[in-house]
Amino acid sequence: MEPYIRMVGITKKFPGVVANDSVNFEVYKGEIHALLGENGAGKTTLMRVLYGLYRPDAGKIYVNGNEVKIGSPTEALRLGIGMVHQHFSLIPYFTVAENVAIGLGSWRNGLEIEKIKAMIKDVSEDLGLYVNPDAYVHQLSVGERQRVEIIKMLVRGVNVLILDEPTSALTPQESQQLFNVLKRMKDGGRGVVLITHKMYEVMEVADRVTVLRRGRVVLNALKGEISEKALVEAMVGKEVILGSPEKRSVPQKGALSVEGLVVKGDRGEVAVNGISFVVRGGEIVGIAGVAGNGQRELVEAIFGMRKAVSGKITVDGVDITNKDIRDRVSAGLELIPEDRLGTAVIPKLSLFQNAILHERWWDPYSKMGVLSISKARDLAKRIINSFGVATPNEQVQAGSLSGGNIQKFVVGRSMARGARYLIAVNPTAGLDVAATDSVRKTLVEFRNSGGAVLLVSEDLDELLSLSDRLYVIYRGKLVKEFLPQFDRLAIGEAMMGGQQ
Ligand SMILES: Nc1ncnc2c1ncn2[C@@H]1O[C@H](COP(=O)(O)OP(=O)(O)OP(=O)(O)O)[C@@H](O)[C@H]1O
Ligand SMILES: [Mg+2]
Repeated sequence: MEPYIRMVGITKKFPGVVANDSVNFEVYKGEIHALLGENGAGKTTLMRVLYGLYRPDAGKIYVNGNEVKIGSPTEALRLGIGMVHQHFSLIPYFTVAENVAIGLGSWRNGLEIEKIKAMIKDVSEDLGLYVNPDAYVHQLSVGERQRVEIIKMLVRGVNVLILDEPTSALTPQESQQLFNVLKRMKDGGRGVVLITHKMYEVMEVADRVTVLRRGRVVLNALKGEISEKALVEAMVGKEVILGSPEKRSVPQKGALSVEGLVVKGDRGEVAVNGISFVVRGGEIVGIAGVAGNGQRELVEAIFGMRKAVSGKITVDGVDITNKDIRDRVSAGLELIPEDRLGTAVIPKLSLFQNAILHERWWDPYSKMGVLSISKARDLAKRIINSFGVATPNEQVQAGSLSGGNIQKFVVGRSMARGARYLIAVNPTAGLDVAATDSVRKTLVEFRNSGGAVLLVSEDLDELLSLSDRLYVIYRGKLVKEFLPQFDRLAIGEAMMGGQQ
């Protein structure tokens, strides 16, 4: 049987990264095809190419056997391809039917709302996609909104529906309802692409599985032909990693300690659900997990950017649970945030201004609230020289540097300040090999000199090569602790909820 969609040799590059590298991918009508891979593996990119949001640098796409160029979502929809994104695009103060009408462009072609309602009824009834067409979107639950997004695609007659991590914000019951809908779609002869990080979802609904790793297809198989273990192995790779690369020092006195921490997320949900751990001086403790399992809220609570609902955070025995950031910094805590341009540096300010961004409260940079420019410059020069930041001088805007050099500057700044407890979040994301090396070396040296590092990273290789111990975080809990030599497969399974 000819696949409905055939993508051949798709390559898509972004500056500094090959997101898709000669990828072949097919979708048949009447199948649920799971697309798996670690964070950053290239899943969303590949589907955005198919949905006409990205132009591939190379490769061909065939629909129903005919080669096509898909220049926009409108063209994709015309070819029967629909996509539901992770972040919905509904208008909250419009009704369901009105939102569907907008998708159909009915302002232009004069479709009446009663007709739209009939269409909604038509596509949703036999799929079990229950939603009231007269309800306002802002009144709907996340699961219901997602149904509206799916309906919007169905009324346009899609043959293949792509869902990008559709269950990440759903309750287990809502997920189950969604799967029932997907199964009915497949039975009705449509194809479904399901991007997911959850093993049980693959096992429950998928007919076929493709695994991407670093932009390449590493596995394509029918689900019945493949074990759970083999899937995880394809995802995380099977190289043996021996743990911390350089001789570790003996854990020292002093620790960052977190006890029974509970933190809420942006939607008021419990994002961190009773987490406890200790990071001692002289060790790097890794947190592994699929993005969105509470990492961000955990880090923000430790650094004071988000309130702890309950629990206790101490540094060197000093309770900082309810202290502001400034007190945390003076207790020796430092953050290397993920978001370099924005949180870590202010792009429009010079490097020397950025050098004292958190320092401006203290001597010698600030005397009675007056900043000492020459001291700030000296500090910036020291950071630039010690950490090999490539820049003409300390007066240029931070935003004019390359990402790698900004990060070297940010890491150097933390070191220069004499922090003893460092939280590093994806510290090498998006950096080239040389900058990555330099940042990692700095972390290891910091550890070797007695510093404590909490390393939160989406890059499993980074975690395995730097950590002295690591935890897997899953749905707001540390589900398992691992010691070197790290069992990559077991870590991968825990990340996908396999231990639950
Ligand atoms: N618009 C973009 N501009 C620059 N780089 C991008 C862009 N979109 C994705 N990338 C990069 O391409 C790579 C693949 O990203 P992609 O979003 O496709 O991964 P993914 O498999 O969907 O990951 P996740 O599971 O985290 O959603 C990553 O390195 C990412 O940083
Ligand atoms: Mg993605």
